[in-house]
Amino acid sequence: GKGAAMVTAVACRLVSQRKQIDEILASFELSKENLIEVKNKMRGELEYGLKKETHATATVKMLPTYVCGTPDGTEKGKFLALDLGGTNFRVLLVKIRSGRRKSVRMYNKIFAIPLEIMQGTGEELFDHIVQCIAEFLEYMGIKGARLPLGFTFSFPCRQASIDKGALVEWTKGFKATDCEGEDVVDMLREAIKRRNEFDLDIVAVVNDTVGTMMTCGYEDPNCEIGFIAGTGSNVCYMEEMKNIEIMEVTEGKMCINTEWGGFGDNGCIDSIRTKYDKEVDEGSLNPGKQRYEKMTSGMYLGEIVRQILIDLTKHGLLFRGQISESLRTRGIFETKFLSHIESDRLALLQVRRILQQLGLDSTCDDSIIVKEVCGAVSKRAAQLCGAGLAAIVEKKRENSNLEHLKITVGVDGTLYKLHPHFSGILRETVKEMAPQCDVTFMLSEDGSGKGAALITAVAKRLHNVGEN
Ligand code: GLC
Repeated sequence: GKGAAMVTAVACRLVSQRKQIDEILASFELSKENLIEVKNKMRGELEYGLKKETHATATVKMLPTYVCGTPDGTEKGKFLALDLGGTNFRVLLVKIRSGRRKSVRMYNKIFAIPLEIMQGTGEELFDHIVQCIAEFLEYMGIKGARLPLGFTFSFPCRQASIDKGALVEWTKGFKATDCEGEDVVDMLREAIKRRNEFDLDIVAVVNDTVGTMMTCGYEDPNCEIGFIAGTGSNVCYMEEMKNIEIMEVTEGKMCINTEWGGFGDNGCIDSIRTKYDKEVDEGSLNPGKQRYEKMTSGMYLGEIVRQILIDLTKHGLLFRGQISESLRTRGIFETKFLSHIESDRLALLQVRRILQQLGLDSTCDDSIIVKEVCGAVSKRAAQLCGAGLAAIVEKKRENSNLEHLKITVGVDGTLYKLHPHFSGILRETVKEMAPQCDVTFMLSEDGSGKGAALITAVAKRLHNVGEN
């Protein structure tokens, strides 16, 4: 009768709704073939970045860092470190002891960088940094000390020595004017001069991936790769000098900052990008740039999720078809929320509570869908990073002419550390994509601070740079 027909109609609608949701989720699935393709393409782009003729235009920039070895335990002294470009800005005092009782002690202070400063003028940004340093020195009572300083500056820099680095372009949430093309050490020195209150001996500019590799290398000499899965996504690794064609020297090794976040900027992975990825890119500070980073890092995963949720809501598949003010707000889904929502022990009721906190009124069905969406997006991110890392370890294996390579990757970043599934899927993918490599992941304890200090110590010992 009529009742049965209505039940059938409702059932049909539910089935078709589920089909629409599944289709969207499926567009985030990567087959084994997809992942192999990503690995191979990444490998190709790494080579372009290393070759003389293609280096300047390569999307994976392969920047020399002038870090030529991992620490050997003889590093010692007191150092200052700055850490700019991650979740927080920090100033640190690092004390390194060498010898049998080798140890690293650190004191740090976190400072906020307000949005208007991240996106204001370069002078304002560097004045603010120096203001924070002044507060820290005051607080620690070491204003007159003129300590050697390592500057962890987590953006692409073209270096001509360990203590010089011209910013190629801003990435992530930064957009301060008049900085691109300028030397960040010069900008810092000038800001210190403008303040005219203390002096510092700036010895090294360091990418966070390099700091992470060095920190883990301090414990494990097998660590020749550094990986950040945080606000941004990037990798560095020790490369044979002879393969770095833009360098004159052919002996030994140097750490290369790959800046792999720019992978895909020439369109080479467009076939796996979804319309949501394109929306996130278009709404970002740097449209067209850092396409791989935008599919794999904490700053953007929440945005991808938000775009999917908006689309689902528009189609009446979520939140009773009502797009709320908060769903329209950029940046509401931070890494910590995604991590929380995907936590296995979390009851659906708690997922609803989190969504409530974000200003999203959900039903039980809604919360299931949101959790599925988060899962699809973060799984793809971990798989993509895994395929990328497989390309790096395979390259290192071939470099060393080994049938089998045992290697350690130093890792840091909120996505890797906080997310319940990211690290597991990453590891699985690397294993599947690089079966001839035995990869150990080593969590770095504060790589940006400790690593910068270690690099500064080595640089001071080797070249006595920075004394000008
Ligand atoms: C961005 C930066 C890169 C940094 C990474 C992780 O990709 O360009 O230099 O290493 O974020 O913080």
